[in-house]
Amino acid sequence: MNFKKVHPDFGIEIKDIKINKINHQEITEILNLFEEYSLIVLKNQKITNEEQLDFAKNFGELEVTKPGTIGSNSNLVILTNMDEDGKVVDDSHKQAKNDRANQQWHSDSSFKIHPAHASILNGRTTPKIGGSTQFICMRNIYKRLDQSIQKQLDNLDAIHHFAHSRSKIDSSMVSQIELDKFPPVIHPMVKINPVNNKKAVYFGSHTKSIKNLDGDESSKLLKYLNDFINNEDYIYSHKWDDFDLIIWDNRSMLHRGQPYDVTEPRYLVRATVSDTMSTGTYL
Ligand code: OGA
Ligand code: MN
Repeated sequence: MNFKKVHPDFGIEIKDIKINKINHQEITEILNLFEEYSLIVLKNQKITNEEQLDFAKNFGELEVTKPGTIGSNSNLVILTNMDEDGKVVDDSHKQAKNDRANQQWHSDSSFKIHPAHASILNGRTTPKIGGSTQFICMRNIYKRLDQSIQKQLDNLDAIHHFAHSRSKIDSSMVSQIELDKFPPVIHPMVKINPVNNKKAVYFGSHTKSIKNLDGDESSKLLKYLNDFINNEDYIYSHKWDDFDLIIWDNRSMLHRGQPYDVTEPRYLVRATVSDTMSTGTYL
């Protein structure tokens, strides 16, 4: 398969593949490359929702979109700043706030008992100014941390809560239904890939605190990690062309959106695969 690296430490762009015309052998290769490189970019994927879902199913069981998100109860998440009439919404609209919430580093669905495995995002209408999606490889972060911190993280769990990431934007954007459905869950701070045993640090915007550390110690360590990852050298910034498709591994990557000219329409469609092998616990 013909591909090039998009960042020295992770991520590739595969050429000459159309996911709606893909064969068995190509799928196997993509699944292997996904485990190795964590991020795959495919250009010019002008696809239907059905084709996106069919492709996503090769990675595993699809997530059902949660209440309070466009696409609720289907297997697709719609990320857009447009309302039903195709008009761009203003700053105070729930969808605009959702965009801003996604501009914090996160791993999709880390607030769920079964968090996300692969996210498969197709940019259907993308803005000219800004609106990139950025990625950090958390295997890379694990490797670069001091051994003493690696050891500490190996033995720590963190508490993830959907309401936590939203509280930084506007706590009133979380409904009672979402609060009831998504109580805090616990996940290990280091994920080990079951295929190649590579370790990745696991935390993000939904991480409220670290279990078994007192409040001060927990905030200090989370701040240290946040400062550590925010290093330009570790980031791949994807400037969207319409119909790009990006696949990333939420077990080993953080991502976030970037601000854009909010008067321009933006419409992206995501299929999300559930990490059924990884199970969190309730607090
Ligand atoms: C997502 C996401 C960020 C963006 O699709 O899960 O967080 O750039 N997207 O819209
Ligand atoms: Mn996301």
